[in-house]
Amino acid sequence: MADQWNNLRDARFLLDEDTRPLNPVPPVILTTPAAMRRWRSANSGSVGFVPTMGYLHEGHMDLVRRSIDENLLTVVSIFVNPTQFAPDEDFSRYPRDEVRDLAQLSAAGVDAVYLPGATDMYPEGYQTYVEVEQVTRPLEGARRPGHFRGVTTVVLKLFNAVGPDRAYFGRKDAQQLRVIQRMVRDLDLGVEVVPCDIVRETDGLAMSSRNVYLSPEQRTAATVLKRALDDTRRRWAEGERDADTLRAAVSRLIDAEPLAELDYVSLADDESLQELEGTAVRPAILSMVVKFGKTRLLDNIELA
Ligand code: PAF
Repeated sequence: MADQWNNLRDARFLLDEDTRPLNPVPPVILTTPAAMRRWRSANSGSVGFVPTMGYLHEGHMDLVRRSIDENLLTVVSIFVNPTQFAPDEDFSRYPRDEVRDLAQLSAAGVDAVYLPGATDMYPEGYQTYVEVEQVTRPLEGARRPGHFRGVTTVVLKLFNAVGPDRAYFGRKDAQQLRVIQRMVRDLDLGVEVVPCDIVRETDGLAMSSRNVYLSPEQRTAATVLKRALDDTRRRWAEGERDADTLRAAVSRLIDAEPLAELDYVSLADDESLQELEGTAVRPAILSMVVKFGKTRLLDNIELA
């Protein structure tokens, strides 16, 4: 796949100027850490990086466009990282569509796509992991043991290969964003982490590759997450600060939707993610996970 794509890319330079397509040159595809590092050494100028697990949607493309605006070069990685999935999770059925992903990245004008294989990232004998402590423990960390260890390990490996100046992460995965920010500070990685706003469907559902798992009925019911967040924002704007009252209001709204099952709702300190009790202080973050069948949907709102 990568070879075919790179041949196609080179073939474009053989075309006459006036028959050359107007759309941007397709990105170079790099499939090993060594090839990625060689490309980085051969290219100077600021590099923006968007790490993804593929099956790209507008949320990803928003990060990509921001990186293209703010950097000379943009690299996107596509790698469904096995170490961040527990054995009972959806690794094997995680949605994949490399051809469509590459077409979208090409049309956007990305310079390079890093597409390593699992054995390039984790060769036989692999035994090194990155562990961020407190901020990984609550919320997703409590429900998905080992998940953030897999995320930080792969993100550090991706950073090592890509050598970015800036890296773009969505605010939807709020805990992931804070864990990466902590790792970058603690390990002096010198990468600017750029948080990007949540991109939503027109009915308010946060974009996610996992939305594809929802049945039409579950998809309609899933708008309850945004309604619960809007209700929280309104209560907060009206001066409600009691942490239990704010969490209980979300629970009631989710419980009223028959297809939805609340996994958790949290009102926490915006940076440490420690749960708030009594009167909530600013800035805070209200986050929740709601299950529709086996599909877990995350969403959150920052309350300043
Ligand atoms: O957010 C994701 O898609 C993944 O957790 C990431 C950051 C690409 C690491 O695999």
